[in-house]
Amino acid sequence: MTINSAIFVVSNTDFRRCPEDDFAEFAFVGRSNVGKSSLINYLVGKKDLAKTSSTPGKTLLINHFLVNEKLYIVDLPGYGYAKVSKMQREKLRKIIENYVLFRSQLTNLFVLIDSRLEPQKIDLDFINWLGKNSAPFSIVFTKGDKQSQKKLTTNIEKYRQTLLETWEELPPIFITSSEKKQGKEEILDYIDTIMNGELNA
Ligand code: GTP
Ligand code: MG
Repeated sequence: MTINSAIFVVSNTDFRRCPEDDFAEFAFVGRSNVGKSSLINYLVGKKDLAKTSSTPGKTLLINHFLVNEKLYIVDLPGYGYAKVSKMQREKLRKIIENYVLFRSQLTNLFVLIDSRLEPQKIDLDFINWLGKNSAPFSIVFTKGDKQSQKKLTTNIEKYRQTLLETWEELPPIFITSSEKKQGKEEILDYIDTIMNGELNA
């Protein structure tokens, strides 16, 4: 898929106030600071479409970006940022959970995982929660540039093995670097495949 246009449409905290049209939505979710907003900018080829920051907790709202006038890319707040109050953390979790559970336009979630880390409980819990609620998702490893290729391969294999302890089948897995611009074609092609499937359904 080639991106011809990507425009910001609306930000809010409530899935009920998201755009009312019926376009398919592809949402990016994951721990605070994992690189969701950076990945969106890389995918659409616009440096500052989604706001990014080196400090966690930048995205606090559900942000809709209309792409090619036919689908939405959605930037979600991060979960699990330790340095905010428990109340604020719970509020963000509710925003994310309600969006996932009740937004009927949600077509696929990309769950972002920092490729440098050992499997983290908070991410595994979130992934298992998605499974329990039958939410369609794939996994995107981020920040691939921040370590050697060898370490990257080892970490991802470890993650796959950890997931296979609870999952019979693995979801699609993508490896990316927004910094070094790697992994975009695979994700955009995957979105395209889903879109074509939806049209033919
Ligand atoms: P919240 O909105 O706070 O939940 O964070 P986010 O997941 O949207 O992360 P964001 O895109 O704002 O990126 C967080 C930090 O990681 C920024 O300093 C980015 O420059 C950096 N970053 C994101 N992706 C990459 C990457 O692929 N490689 C490297 N080296 N840095 C990255
Ligand atoms: Mg963000």
